[in-house]
Amino acid sequence: MKEIFKIGLAPMAGYTDHIMRSISLKWGADFIFTEMLSVDGILLNDRATTKLLPKAPCRVQLFGNEPLKFLQAYERIADLVTWIDVNAGCPVKKVTRKGSGSALLQQLEKLVAIIALLKERVEKPVSVKIRLGWNDNRVLEIVSKLIDAGPDAIFIHGRTTKQKYTGKADWEAIARAANLCHEHGISVFGSGDLFTPEDVKKIYDNYPVDGVIIARGAIGNPWIFQQSKTLIETGTYRKLTAIERLSAFAEHLLLLLKEKGIDKGIKESRKFFVGYTRNIPNAAKMRNQYMRLKTIDDIKKFLIFHGIDIKRMESVN
Ligand SMILES: Cc1cc2nc3c(=O)[nH]c(=O)nc-3n(C[C@H](O)[C@H](O)[C@H](O)COP(=O)(O)O)c2cc1C
Repeated sequence: MKEIFKIGLAPMAGYTDHIMRSISLKWGADFIFTEMLSVDGILLNDRATTKLLPKAPCRVQLFGNEPLKFLQAYERIADLVTWIDVNAGCPVKKVTRKGSGSALLQQLEKLVAIIALLKERVEKPVSVKIRLGWNDNRVLEIVSKLIDAGPDAIFIHGRTTKQKYTGKADWEAIARAANLCHEHGISVFGSGDLFTPEDVKKIYDNYPVDGVIIARGAIGNPWIFQQSKTLIETGTYRKLTAIERLSAFAEHLLLLLKEKGIDKGIKESRKFFVGYTRNIPNAAKMRNQYMRLKTIDDIKKFLIFHGIDIKRMESVN
């Protein structure tokens, strides 16, 4: 395996909480990020944002629009930050309306100023996560401006903002940007449509990136990190059995229940269940049933019915 090729967990609002991050690290992710955190939320001590702050130091992604606020927000939570990533890729209207997220791709001078200020004042790695452009692919123009600010890495989701999640990620465009960045010593990590270890190996074999980050493909599928590395190193990998997948789900559920309480834990577990049951026989029926379960007792019965040992869940009721 190319020594530099790294496989990380991509930031995902509503998913990459510290439970998903710790599970991903356990299953071989080289690095993880928080979901995007609002610089205003941090500066105002907003309750929703405070809840999302990491419990242990890790890579933190921030979104906002003012260079100084990025620096001030970082200073507030500096002890919890090992690496700062600036979100310039979020296409959600609530975010772009305020000039944040991928709206920064239309205000490149401001984006460059944010990165430059953080690089000047923070002695930790600073990266930026972008899309290919707002309406059209302008990634070479964007990265050539960003290069001047000297980020340590650029994460590129191979779609435009207008595309949201439609179409396919354009890895050729990511590759061209990576070649340009490499001339300036800046690492590039690609993002988009990596759902299987085979998808990751294809990138490793064909594109000049320093690594990839996986988002949707890691939801309820955390072993994708280890499996991808094993496939790259040995040419093969072991698939998990249905029982192993469901047991891993039960572990994830237990962590959610302990941390978020019964009601919220059950509710949040539903969005992960879909991933954990991917490619399992009768998955559609099982999902249908699981989504209707409302109590811990019902969930325990359901898991026992499917052959899962729930000893560790006995203390929860
Ligand atoms: C539910 C969801 C939430 C996301 N939240 C963030 C986020 O907070 N910050 C960010 O930079 N990208 C975010 N993304 C984009 C992903 O990091 C990633 O670039 C994109 O989903 C493409 O990768 P994939 O095909 O592996 O999902 C999010 C994506 C999804 C599906």
